[in-house]
Amino acid sequence: MSTLERRQAIIVLDYGSQYSRLITRRIREAHVYSELVPAATTLAELQKNDHLDIRGFILSGGPSSVYDADAPSCDPAILESGLPVLGICYGMQLMALQLGGHVAPARGLREYGPATIELLAATPEEEESFRIFEGIKASPEQTDKLSNANNKHPRLPVWMSHGDSVDQLPAGFHILATTESNPVAAIGNAQGYIGLQFHPEVSHTPQGRAIIHNFLFRICACEASWTPGHVIDEAVTLIRAQVGSEKVICGLSGGVDSAVAALMIHKAIGDQLICIFVDTGLLRAGEREQVIETFGNHMRIPLVVVDARQRFLERLVGVTDPERKRKIIGAEFISVFEDEALKLASEQGQISFLAQGTLYPDVIESTSHDTASTAKSIKSHHNVGGLPEEMKFKLVEPLRMLFKDEVREIGAALNLPEDWVWRHPFPGPGLAIRIIGAVDEQRLEILRAADKIVIEEIRKAGIYREIGQAFAVLTPIQSVGVMGDGRTYANMVAVRAVTTGDFMTADWARLSPELLGRISNRLVNEIPEINRVVYDITSKPPATIEWE
Ligand code: XMP
Repeated sequence: MSTLERRQAIIVLDYGSQYSRLITRRIREAHVYSELVPAATTLAELQKNDHLDIRGFILSGGPSSVYDADAPSCDPAILESGLPVLGICYGMQLMALQLGGHVAPARGLREYGPATIELLAATPEEEESFRIFEGIKASPEQTDKLSNANNKHPRLPVWMSHGDSVDQLPAGFHILATTESNPVAAIGNAQGYIGLQFHPEVSHTPQGRAIIHNFLFRICACEASWTPGHVIDEAVTLIRAQVGSEKVICGLSGGVDSAVAALMIHKAIGDQLICIFVDTGLLRAGEREQVIETFGNHMRIPLVVVDARQRFLERLVGVTDPERKRKIIGAEFISVFEDEALKLASEQGQISFLAQGTLYPDVIESTSHDTASTAKSIKSHHNVGGLPEEMKFKLVEPLRMLFKDEVREIGAALNLPEDWVWRHPFPGPGLAIRIIGAVDEQRLEILRAADKIVIEEIRKAGIYREIGQAFAVLTPIQSVGVMGDGRTYANMVAVRAVTTGDFMTADWARLSPELLGRISNRLVNEIPEINRVVYDITSKPPATIEWE
């Protein structure tokens, strides 16, 4: 069995900024591995993981002031490790203070939002730290806007958000950049310790990516080796080591996460993997057929399809409360899955492992000190993830260290069909929470047909990937219409389409009137039970993405 190579890594210490995750993602987008860890993590703890070849640290921003009684600090061993450190905002102030500098408390004045920094000229002995800005120039357009005749130095637009500021540098540090209101906007020393008062990770700092790249490649001397091929090879080695010759079951949901998890595991252990797909009857049009075609026929992965439509429909008769629907569907799912796993075990011998498509954001959430990210869930989500505890499976979680966009990239590298790779998320309880009121076969049929039309038209318009999620909702409202010579009394369907980054907040998508017109015409013309279509123009918050 091959052993794992040590992996170059940048560790991001999380001081609670809303952008901490984004820093980790930016680093990974540059194909360098990065982990986000709680601020209190010590160097000794990090060094226990001997697969990590730590190349540098980033101290994130955060809401605290270094003068707060409970202000989080940094393990001094990290700052003494000799490895480069990039402090961002709070991270810069903390680093300056812990290394013997001084931070001036905010005097009621906070610098927040767009700002312009002016890069200073490096003296020969300062050149090392100026590498953070190497090759970075204001674009001609920015130069026109930002410079005036008196400015000799490059000026860059950046995104600021801070109260306190460094007013005395630690020994050996010098100033790299200033702003009009803050003489210390960026600092550094010859050992590769850099402090930035602004946020290079956000898109409002246009040269931010280049600045992060400079830290990774010029200061930390990283290589861009965190590529999908590399991630897959590593996962394969780990899965083989974990599973040995035992069997693994994996519930496929039709979504991208479970599909990629299954493909990775299959690559590692072949037919020791058995996939289970439960047709709850609450799925979108064609979903079951697509799973069979892709996994069973095309990829030739052992696949068990369970037709549980009747079981789910029976449990849902007359249930209108959304939370009850979720609980019933969740419990029924577990019960079907358990039945199937037991059946498989009796036919094929013991099954020791259950695969789950847990992603890195879930892992961070469960370890983060950050209260915002542990915000309690508003709906009781049911995922294929929340499976039989009492069955005592050991878990295989090959996506644990991956963000969603990385999962998609890896899915593509594993030949998952493109429209699957980019598929919008679909809730575990399926169409049941898109039928307002009681669920029955007839209403499911109407909604399935409506959903298909909405998605087809959005795909045809070429905007499917820009949209975070799009779907139809079958409302309990019936209204009067007129078709041909006759009066109708039929259902109202709502169309929902949102743009979003993380699904925690979302904006309603500005679909063109022409596209909305086409969707509406097709819904009413092709589905006799629908005679009225409305478009949902609420953002989240205050609304949620789903209607139930
Ligand atoms: P909301 O409606 O809470 O949705 O704004 C946010 C995201 O979560 C999905 N969602 C669910 N996913 N089980 C799931 O697995 C659920 O019960 C559930 N409810 C909502 C929703 O589709 C969106 O992507």
